[in-house]
Amino acid sequence: MTPSREPASQAGQRIVDYDSGFDYCAFWGNRDYEQWVEARTLRRLLPRLGRARWFADFGGGYGRNGMHYPAVAEHVILVDYSVTQLTWAAERLATGINSGRVHLIRADLGQLPLIDSAVDAAMVVRVLHHMTDVERCLREMARTVSGRWLIDVPIKHHVLARLRGARSGSLQKLRGAEPVVTGSSDYPFYTFQLAAIRNCLGRAGFGSRVAASVNNFRRWDQSLPRGLVSGLRPLVYSMELATQRLGRSWWGPSQFLIATRAQPQTPELRQAPETTPPQLLELARRTCCPKCRSDLNWSEVEARCLACGRHYPRRDGFWDFALGEGTSPSEAATTPSDG
Ligand SMILES: C[S@@+](CC[C@H](N)C(=O)[O-])C[C@H]1O[C@@H](n2cnc3c(N)ncnc32)[C@H](O)[C@@H]1O
Repeated sequence: MTPSREPASQAGQRIVDYDSGFDYCAFWGNRDYEQWVEARTLRRLLPRLGRARWFADFGGGYGRNGMHYPAVAEHVILVDYSVTQLTWAAERLATGINSGRVHLIRADLGQLPLIDSAVDAAMVVRVLHHMTDVERCLREMARTVSGRWLIDVPIKHHVLARLRGARSGSLQKLRGAEPVVTGSSDYPFYTFQLAAIRNCLGRAGFGSRVAASVNNFRRWDQSLPRGLVSGLRPLVYSMELATQRLGRSWWGPSQFLIATRAQPQTPELRQAPETTPPQLLELARRTCCPKCRSDLNWSEVEARCLACGRHYPRRDGFWDFALGEGTSPSEAATTPSDG
């Protein structure tokens, strides 16, 4: 896959390309273990955020985790940059969208069209490894959450990385706050020091605790014969559940944090003009121009900034708040090396 050119995003963020040459649905085809682990983890942890009136799934992709929405929130905003993922999400989540409970928004997670504390709770799953500027994106997402959120952190110092580092004599890079970058320069893949991410959250006004170590035996089922996988499955699945607790902060490659705002905030909802379509009223009150943060005027077909005049059109089932003027989504991004 060839990379395309520099990103559309305004503030220098490179955005990974889920639009060309990478089929994220197919990626999940033979990953029963990871699917099982994540579904179970989300069922266990999301209720700890408390039931939300408004909830955001940041980098929600094609809505893979949409089955959890009804249990956690009345209204959900799925934010993603990829047109392809959003188009699939529009099909997959059609019932929720048609009933006005689910809204799809195309935007950079580093420049969101949401007001401060727009949502009560949120999650970000399998996304941070794409963040070229993780601090900026965490700060921006945090700005829009009034209460708690669940954050899946890909760590650099998990057990397997330590074993590999010991074998290759490269343990040094697993220490310290700098992320480790793998993949190529065109498709970088970041892993982080957990403490560094927690410090970022602290600077954004959130305390955090490690809720689970997840995917502790990642890809164990990919290299063994099928018969053996079936036989070992009950054992590995129970070991996964045990290490979710015992391995917090150090074992698995994905560490799930629950971050809680130190000072709970109430959103200052915007005044939506009288002409706002009724089904968009509540969304309109929670959104703003991602460029200048001014109020928006919503119609059935677009949202328009009342200050800078930018237009954000409705496309196939989603609202397009991407700021890469003059570029197509795939021109605006780089391509993923892993999901
Ligand atoms: C591995 S997928 C995860 C999707 C979903 N959370 C899941 O667990 O299946 C990563 C998603 O993050 C999105 N993404 C990456 N960087 C982004 C950014 N800066 N702004 C918005 N979306 C982004 C990609 O388009 C992609 O859909």
